[in-house]
Amino acid sequence: MKLASLSRAALVVASIIAFASPSAQTAAPAADKNLARNLAANCANCHGTGGKSVAEVPSLAGAPANVTIQKMKDYRDGKLPATIMHQLAKGYTDEQIALIADYFAKQPK
Ligand code: HEC
Repeated sequence: MKLASLSRAALVVASIIAFASPSAQTAAPAADKNLARNLAANCANCHGTGGKSVAEVPSLAGAPANVTIQKMKDYRDGKLPATIMHQLAKGYTDEQIALIADYFAKQPK
């Protein structure tokens, strides 16, 4: 009885170790793979799921990445008049903007 529960405990520990190591290795690439999508999700409230707007806010789906990037930079630099985007654009690095723009460029219109 004692031996059985001891070996069961050993089995649990072994399976935790076996489970933990591969998942620790795959965690980082998995997060990276979804980074663009996760960043772009911040825009979905207003620009629609996948950038496909159902309201007055313009759609971003299928927009060329360079156009989205330029507009985001123009909003950030105050060169493009805006009600909200000039504030939002300041919250993203150039790298993040590029990832988001690329993600929306690949979404169907
Ligand atoms: C709170 C609502 C809201 C959120 C969130 C939002 N936007 Fe906007 N977006 C707008 C509005 C409204 C406009 C029109 C310009 C303005 O009034 O600011 C706009 C315009 C734009 C435009 C110009 C589109 C065109 O065709 O001229 C781009 C590009 C853009 N947004 C990108 C983004 C990106 C990228 C995100 C996410 C990081 C985002 N927006 C998040 C409301 C939003």
